[in-house]
Amino acid sequence: MKIAIGSDHGGYSLKEIIKSHLEEKGFEVEDFGTYSEESTDYPDFGQAVGEAVASGKFEKGIVICGTGIGISIAANKVPGVRCALVGDCFSARATREHNDSNVLALGARVLGVGLALDIVDIWLGTEFEGGRHSKRVDKITQIESKYNIK
Ligand code: RB5
Repeated sequence: MKIAIGSDHGGYSLKEIIKSHLEEKGFEVEDFGTYSEESTDYPDFGQAVGEAVASGKFEKGIVICGTGIGISIAANKVPGVRCALVGDCFSARATREHNDSNVLALGARVLGVGLALDIVDIWLGTEFEGGRHSKRVDKITQIESKYNIK
């Protein structure tokens, strides 16, 4: 599975840890920045990872900022992205099963490393359940269609 990853400066060190963790597990990870702890703007990286996933070149994306909030809002502006900000293992599983989230957002200043890695592993390891949830995800796409003028 090809994974796009990105963060602002607040998420930089957790991004590096997650990247190594995933590469050790055999995932192909492409890093969309940032590449240091120098101050940056989270929307740039939310957009880059969101577009990488929406393009179909990457199956999943992971975005990280201090809280995970700003970068998740930015990623969710890209049509086709369903970005879930997750801070617990139950939600990590549920958002894959129910929402078919394709981008995971994490708050580096909120989570410990151990919990963050557990969330990543659960999220990547859980399939969408489909069934009654498909209709609801389709309704999200319909909202996008209403507002996206291409
Ligand atoms: C950067 O200081 C911080 O605002 C950012 O990482 C994030 O928490 C925004 O939502």
